[in-house]
Amino acid sequence: MKGLKTVCAAAICAAAVLGMTGCSSPAAGGRRIVRISHAQSETHPEHLGLLKFKEYVEENLGDKYEVQIFPNELLGAAQKAIELTQTGAIDFVVAGTANLETFADVYEVFSMPYLFTSEEAYHEVMNDTDYMNQVYESTDEAGFRVLTWYNAGTRSFYATKPIYTPDDLKGLKMRVQQSPASVNMAKAFGAAASPMSFGEVYTAIQQGVIDGAENNELALTNNKHGEVAKYYSYNKHQMVPDMLIANLKFLNGLSEEEREVFDEAARLSTEVELAEWDEQVEQAKKIAQEDMGVEFIDVDVQLFKDKVANVQQDMLDENPNIQDLYDHIQEVNAKYLDTEEEGEE
Ligand code: GCU
Repeated sequence: MKGLKTVCAAAICAAAVLGMTGCSSPAAGGRRIVRISHAQSETHPEHLGLLKFKEYVEENLGDKYEVQIFPNELLGAAQKAIELTQTGAIDFVVAGTANLETFADVYEVFSMPYLFTSEEAYHEVMNDTDYMNQVYESTDEAGFRVLTWYNAGTRSFYATKPIYTPDDLKGLKMRVQQSPASVNMAKAFGAAASPMSFGEVYTAIQQGVIDGAENNELALTNNKHGEVAKYYSYNKHQMVPDMLIANLKFLNGLSEEEREVFDEAARLSTEVELAEWDEQVEQAKKIAQEDMGVEFIDVDVQLFKDKVANVQQDMLDENPNIQDLYDHIQEVNAKYLDTEEEGEE
């Protein structure tokens, strides 16, 4: 009941926000309102990054643009919000790459379990703007383009029961993101996959509809999942980035100077988000453990890797569009494996 009310409230709010001001070029005192939607709370690193984005745009183009940020899936869950960005009803949305797979299947690569072998490799790949821009252009046909990435940490399983080995996942109903690759991954681990939007997870665990989910540590605190799932197992199966996605017409309508301001605002927002991320993950672990009573379990990661050992090759066989990016990531992975080995000598 409460869930339904929240959904209705969000829908009414979205309708009001989008309806009152019309669609493509809303104006406040002559200024174009730029709307950004995201799924996180107002203390989350992404919200803080977006505040920087707003500050920079308004400092430089404040006479022309006012940036408004809508957190907490207020304008709809990721897939809905992407559709709104696609049509231009809103201008920007932050969403994980899993939500982009149906628009450009190159993004499936990030759903591969154990794709990145170190955080260093992950960051280097994502920070290589020249390379990533080719990937970001892949949704142009769909009417939107990624401007920058945000760190969303490392994903692991958490549930109402402890998970020590992949065998413990057998028969558990685990929420995954709404993408085919995410469903396949959960199945490969031996779990029953239950795709649903992020905002539905808390109630679904609470009501016993699912046994758990998989995400970074901030889901326990920022989204309060630690209140209903008390066991978090560090099996570390994915590092999936979030993306700042822009309506392409909006981007193309900017003058060269304006575009530079928006690009720089995006870059600065990532800088802020990354710094906040590292700090907040440490805090989240502490809060989850000490205040929420969540038990963090260090598992034998190799057992989990073995369980899904064929998935990468299966995905490559099925989708040739991910091969180039996959190879590129492997090259970067190798660089850091070498460094680790040298360091150990
Ligand atoms: C993280 C991530 C989101 C994603 C969510 C989910 O919070 O930052 O982009 O939507 O997980 O699992 O749905």
